[in-house]
Amino acid sequence: MFSDRITDELHYFCPMSDSPIYHKHLFICTNQRPDNAPRPSCGEAHGLELVVAFKKAINEANLGVPIRAQKSGCLDLCELGPTVVVYPDGIFYGSVQLSDVHEIVQEHLVNNRPVERLRLREHPKKAK
Ligand code: FES
Repeated sequence: MFSDRITDELHYFCPMSDSPIYHKHLFICTNQRPDNAPRPSCGEAHGLELVVAFKKAINEANLGVPIRAQKSGCLDLCELGPTVVVYPDGIFYGSVQLSDVHEIVQEHLVNNRPVERLRLREHPKKAK
């Protein structure tokens, strides 16, 4: 018989679990390319500032459920950055500005309504 602790660890390692560790999990691209790279990078465009702002806004919202915001590597939507993805919804946001953080937290994380004006619906490579 598993203890609660072991059961919790299994949920963490089992992506198909119906009991995820985080209610919402945000990945914020902070990728930074070298100067003269052929593609832009979110890190140059305040990616790290977004991570700090999301963490602060989530903390202040005091949601009562586990929500994590963290930096990520390139999400391959560089031309549309800075980019953020929210799981388990799989909703991508593009051109996210510091002034958008509060709206994403209030609408998407608190009210469970994605912010449509920032939402990316199709990968640009797929659209070609
Ligand atoms: S550098 Fe951010 S999506 Fe590629």
